[in-house]
Amino acid sequence: MCGIVGATAQNEVVNLIVDGLRTLEYRGYDSAGIAAQNAEEVMIRKEPGKISALQNSLVKNPVSGNCAIGHTRWATHGKPNRENAHPHVSGNAIAVVHNGIIENSAELKQLLVNCGYRFASETDSETIPHLVDLYLSAGNSFFEACRKAISHLEGSYAVAITFANEPGKIIAARKGSPLIVAQGEQGFMVVSDVIALQEKNQIVYYLEEGDIAEVSADNCEFYDSKGKRVSRTGTRLGQSECVATKKDFDSFMQKEIFEQPEAVRATLARRLVNGKVSERLFDKGSSAILDGVENIHIVACGTSLNAGHVAKYWLESVAGIPCQVEIASEYRYRNPVVPPKTLFLSISQSGETADTLAALRFANDSPYLGSLGICNTNNSSLFRESEAAILTKAGVEVGVASTKALTTQLTALALLVLKIGELRNTPDAVLHNIADALLNLPSALDEALKTEEKIKEVARSISRHKSVLFLGRGHHYPVAVEGALKLKEISYVHAEAYAAGELKHGPLALVDGSMPVVVLCPENNLLEKLSSNIEEVKARHGQVYLLADHDISSQTCRGAKNTIEFEGGDSFISPIIFNVPLQLLAYHTAEFLGKNVDQPRNLAKSVTVE
Ligand code: M6R
Repeated sequence: MCGIVGATAQNEVVNLIVDGLRTLEYRGYDSAGIAAQNAEEVMIRKEPGKISALQNSLVKNPVSGNCAIGHTRWATHGKPNRENAHPHVSGNAIAVVHNGIIENSAELKQLLVNCGYRFASETDSETIPHLVDLYLSAGNSFFEACRKAISHLEGSYAVAITFANEPGKIIAARKGSPLIVAQGEQGFMVVSDVIALQEKNQIVYYLEEGDIAEVSADNCEFYDSKGKRVSRTGTRLGQSECVATKKDFDSFMQKEIFEQPEAVRATLARRLVNGKVSERLFDKGSSAILDGVENIHIVACGTSLNAGHVAKYWLESVAGIPCQVEIASEYRYRNPVVPPKTLFLSISQSGETADTLAALRFANDSPYLGSLGICNTNNSSLFRESEAAILTKAGVEVGVASTKALTTQLTALALLVLKIGELRNTPDAVLHNIADALLNLPSALDEALKTEEKIKEVARSISRHKSVLFLGRGHHYPVAVEGALKLKEISYVHAEAYAAGELKHGPLALVDGSMPVVVLCPENNLLEKLSSNIEEVKARHGQVYLLADHDISSQTCRGAKNTIEFEGGDSFISPIIFNVPLQLLAYHTAEFLGKNVDQPRNLAKSVTVE
């Protein structure tokens, strides 16, 4: 999604902005631009395509200044061309970069056109510089003009605004989209993601909903949406929060797949004590949020949603608690009924996914027992707006395809299931088994990673196909769904997942000698049923690829085109482990097809718009 990097300092900042934009490339974008300001003028450069195109343009037509704002745009309103790229200007004096969507842009545009403004782009964002200009023309100060302009915006925004007559000043504001002000040695920066901060050890201020900041090289003042001065507490940025390198791996995604044992270890650390879940599970609030809970509603998007679906199986079978899992963008518009004593649980890697946040805000105004968030990003909107929160300790995830975020979400969910089981008197023996299995999880993931070479062979043959089916049963069904999501997301090979028992109710019609069918085959009480489903595929000459527990019967494997056996682990943690070969399969298929695995087309890392 779009990214913002702004800086105002005692020294030249253009390179700092370009380097910052580069670190945001992983979020997904299709054009980039910069507005640099010195005492005489505001200079704009913008280009469609990659940041390298912007850099080439800067070589031909350099810009310089001690104050600049830069942007990577992920197109929503209008094509990814130069006109629609940010910064947008009014009168070549006011420059604006914007993340989010202005929902009332059509009426604002009409109002501005009636006032004589001409629009150079198709974007909703261009309304902002013209509105600021309108208020400046009415005699307002730069800050007041920005504040009044912003008060008209409906929807979500993070903005950084500069004005030629006030060199060195950036007005920054946010609502519904993250924005951070950071204080370094040479001056201040305004960024939408801490990863864009080049200088480590900075003091960062996370703007709150509706905040406006007036930033200059040596000072920053914060105001609430009514213009009242407020104080915001800064925190010092740790090294790990802003460092993202590929190390010796070919891509961030591959590195992140291999970081999973360590990420899971960090997520478990100090949270399981003598087989019991400690209060350290909660990074915000406490287990009191679970007091009296009788129902759970889980809401999330994409991979996080798939984690929620696995958790439903766990919660109902282990803790005996009814659980409903829902797509955030559906949930928020359907007036859900909230049974008494229901906990709202949202899951999000970024903590900034617009649909999930909207669902959380709806839930916070509904008669839930409380809102609990599972999230990988400390201080994200989801973390701050949930009453209680559990942080997954995956570290920065750069690859657009979620890998270690998912395994750590499942780990956090497993701990939560244990905690709820403890509160609801699940037999000790069941809880102890799960706790032991969780402690063994990092080494089980290490083992699963050893399938890579064999998976490559399967990936080579999958990469020759246009479509793939994934099958699973029980709590491996959502894992099959995740496997299909991963494959289509980064290799662009069409993939669908079905609960294996559903095959004969429709999708079996697709199966012939050219259809690859990937089957998740754990050794559990559903194996016999699953074996029958596999026979249904074989009978239609489908190409069966089995991802299987070591000890499944040879009868099940007979006739499969390829069987990859590994130690799937205890039944409870098995869905976590089965993700690993599926991630490797998607990764290597995409590699064979020559795709950009870290930045798949059309997708963004953090989906901050509806
Ligand atoms: O940051 P979130 O977990 O809220 O993101 C939700 C989805 O956008 C995300 O999981 C998406 O599906 C991934 N790209 C899948 O790999």
